[in-house]
Amino acid sequence: MAFKILVTSQKGGVGKSTIAANLSAYLAYQMGLATTLIDWDPHGSSSNWLRRAPNVGVLVQHLTLPIEMGGNRPVFEARMHLRRATQGSDIVVADLTWTDALAGELMFEFDMVLVPTSVSEIELSATSGFLSKNRWVFDSAIAKAPALLVCPTRVLPEQLSSNIFTRQRFPVSFMLAPPILESQTAREMFEQGYLMNLPNACGESFQSFAQAVVAAKDIRLSMLAQEAANKSLKTQVLPKSPALLQRQAERTVTTPFPKAMTPAFSVVPPTATYSVLGRHRQRKIQEESEQTKVSSGLNIPEFLKRFTRPSTTKV
Ligand SMILES: Nc1ncnc2c1ncn2[C@@H]1O[C@H](COP(=O)(O)OP(=O)(O)OP(=O)(O)O)[C@@H](O)[C@H]1O
Ligand SMILES: [Mg+2]
Repeated sequence: MAFKILVTSQKGGVGKSTIAANLSAYLAYQMGLATTLIDWDPHGSSSNWLRRAPNVGVLVQHLTLPIEMGGNRPVFEARMHLRRATQGSDIVVADLTWTDALAGELMFEFDMVLVPTSVSEIELSATSGFLSKNRWVFDSAIAKAPALLVCPTRVLPEQLSSNIFTRQRFPVSFMLAPPILESQTAREMFEQGYLMNLPNACGESFQSFAQAVVAAKDIRLSMLAQEAANKSLKTQVLPKSPALLQRQAERTVTTPFPKAMTPAFSVVPPTATYSVLGRHRQRKIQEESEQTKVSSGLNIPEFLKRFTRPSTTKV
């Protein structure tokens, strides 16, 4: 199943298309992943970039979403586009300018949502407003919420030492990507080449950013795999032991309910079968927490370590 990344923000000109095109190029060329870019932007900046710059093997699709129709229609169409794009792809990157006409449900189609933002007070406050409106998606407990990665872009060297992200409170749990630096050379790369190849600080900052996205993806995938394993363990039905069958037969005879009143559930007392399952589950939980301890000592960037903990941290 392809991993799906949405690059979006409500604000224009923050660097969505630059990130979508260059991240796709990095994933295809440096990581060797079968990558598809879906450009949902009518201007087609990211698709044009990849089509006109040297070919790095990204499959490019410039598609239209009927955003003006509102409601479920754009979500439905996006789902169809994604279904087609994921066939034969390891990873899909989508470039989309968010508008209020779009339903937040669209974000549940993705594993990760990247929100580029510059670090001026005015931009951060717009980003905060966007995240606030979609808080129910990112902090959702009912559905599998996409991971949220806030991406500082066009950052000036003097802004690197500012504590703006600790002053600006966002209303949701999020991860913070390493900043992509502002540089004239980044603008000059449009349709000519890629940020990952820039031999300067901006190029290096982009490499760190892309590596962090890949690390976040890998952590996310291992969490999903773990969740799936836990779920299958919970639903696993073990064959009934002869002792259990015997006890159930006895209970059927001594049930206090007349047949018509038999409740739709049965309260099964702990049995050998259940406690074996319990012990196994306990062992898995123990192994998991030991793995988490080990992984926290690996070379995972500090901001990503938060991802391995319960998503309650507010930054
Ligand atoms: N790191 C950077 N350094 C300098 N300029 C940049 C950088 N990233 C993007 N830009 C420039 O900022 C402008 C907006 O970038 P981009 O088109 O990627 O943003 P966008 O969010 O997709 O915009 P839109 O909302 O119009 O689709 C472009 O001129 C682009 O070249
Ligand atoms: Mg754009």
